[in-house]
Amino acid sequence: MEKRILQLKDEVLLQHPYLIVLAVILSFIIMDPFQLSPVGGHDFRPVKNDIASYQEVMESWPRDNRSRLGLGNLEFKDQIFGPESLEFDTWGRGPYAGLADGRIVRWMGEDVGWETFALVTRNWTEKLCCKGVHSTTHKQWKVESKCGRPLGLRFDRKSGDLYIADSYYGLLVVGPEGGLATPLATHVDGKPILFANDLDIHNNGSIFFTDTSKKYNRVDHFFIMLEGEATGRLLRYDPPTRTTHVVLEGLAFPNGVQLSKDQSFLLFTETTNCRIIKYFLEGSEKGTTEIIADLPGFPDNIRLNQKGQFWVAIDCCRTRAQEFLIYNPWLRNIYFRLPIPMRYLARFVGMRMYSMVSLLNDKGDVLDVLEDKKGVVMKLVSEVKEANGKLWIGTVAHNHIATLPYPLQLVPAGAATVAAVVVDAAETDAAVSENESGAAVIVEQLTLCA
Ligand SMILES: *[C@@H]1O[C@H](CO)[C@@H](O)[C@H](O)[C@H]1NC(C)=O
Ligand SMILES: *[C@@H]1O[C@H](CO)[C@@H](O)[C@H](O)[C@H]1NC(C)=O
Ligand SMILES: *[C@@H]1O[C@H](CO)[C@@H](O)[C@H](O)[C@H]1NC(C)=O
Ligand SMILES: *[C@@H]1O[C@H](CO)[C@@H](O)[C@H](O)[C@H]1NC(C)=O
Repeated sequence: MEKRILQLKDEVLLQHPYLIVLAVILSFIIMDPFQLSPVGGHDFRPVKNDIASYQEVMESWPRDNRSRLGLGNLEFKDQIFGPESLEFDTWGRGPYAGLADGRIVRWMGEDVGWETFALVTRNWTEKLCCKGVHSTTHKQWKVESKCGRPLGLRFDRKSGDLYIADSYYGLLVVGPEGGLATPLATHVDGKPILFANDLDIHNNGSIFFTDTSKKYNRVDHFFIMLEGEATGRLLRYDPPTRTTHVVLEGLAFPNGVQLSKDQSFLLFTETTNCRIIKYFLEGSEKGTTEIIADLPGFPDNIRLNQKGQFWVAIDCCRTRAQEFLIYNPWLRNIYFRLPIPMRYLARFVGMRMYSMVSLLNDKGDVLDVLEDKKGVVMKLVSEVKEANGKLWIGTVAHNHIATLPYPLQLVPAGAATVAAVVVDAAETDAAVSENESGAAVIVEQLTLCA
């Protein structure tokens, strides 16, 4: 029997020599000897993900037909670089923001402008780290691990201290006057924390924070999603004993984390699996988890509003092609080894990357959805913070903070003035982000880094 099959195979191959050529090409691609593919040089091992069905999620998810997120304003354009997380202090000053150049800066009003508030490492220097408007582009990745990349910021309302989750330097704290931050947790179970991402502070002083992966750091975060690897963790730092504990492990790109208003549970996002997970801290379900929302795209940070509801920033959206790749790791293993730049591979599977922000209650019911369907005004949103009658929207990859009055006072759809403002903002943004020769701009920004 076996022999016959072998013979059959031989015959097929001989009759169709192009199959041999195809087989050779395929094995060449998979081995990638010249490391030409986007995953070249990485120990790329795709695994299957535990993700809800595309159809189910997309059919039930409410859409924002008016693209209301597109009505936002882009503020501080080219003054601030990749402000992922935003925070206000006990006196209401701010926003404070963690930047791609490694600094934590704060807005001190029109007269003072932006000032450097804190650094996560003594090794930070203006010469090495200050790349101005280029901080968020390919020019920063080489120095990111030296300069730091603060991703999550939270003030302790009692002490006024600022806690920082930095992707390279772990969990740190800095006093209300700022300066050089002090590391609190850089290791857990004797091994370095590779990719601290976000944090929240419990009333009892313990700090819950996410460690996105044991395998990849922030520069390589795209591989975490492509592989589907699940080595991320939820960690807890206890100040009285100065110890760090693993709360949950085996998570697929744990990202934003937020305690509930009554501290009885926390929510965290799992970016690769496009969902929000609840972890119970009190009651009969204490210590257990529950998936409360499957999202149409890839969530980042999650933040509480005054009413105890949760804002989540989502990079949109999942596609059918992407779902097929997710369910078939072997296909990802071939596809992402094609010697073609990642941006084309990503575009081909339909990842357009526009933004959506959503408001959810503690059960995961969707209370509001704001989209920028064309992705003209807001792209790669990372956090939504509701404060002072506005949504403050951070972005990990662009040089601005977006704001939007909330609740929205909507002008009837199609009003000419609103449309004009949106188009104007979009055009300027595109021009700026594509300007690679802005030498004058950089010199201006350098003074900000002093
Ligand atoms: C949005 O558009 C879809 C399809 O055009 C429609 O079915 C739905 O009712 C609309 N939703 C709202 C809130 O207008
Ligand atoms: C600072 O740089 C020095 C020299 O490169 C290195 O040995 C040291 O580990 C760095 N310190 C930190 C906190 O990264
Ligand atoms: C604070 O509360 C959390 C949640 O119940 C608990 O895990 C942690 O151990 C507490 N921390 C301290 C310092 O008591
Ligand atoms: C690019 O930047 C340079 C220098 O600031 C400026 O002169 C030029 O007009 C900019 N180009 C665009 C398309 O914005």
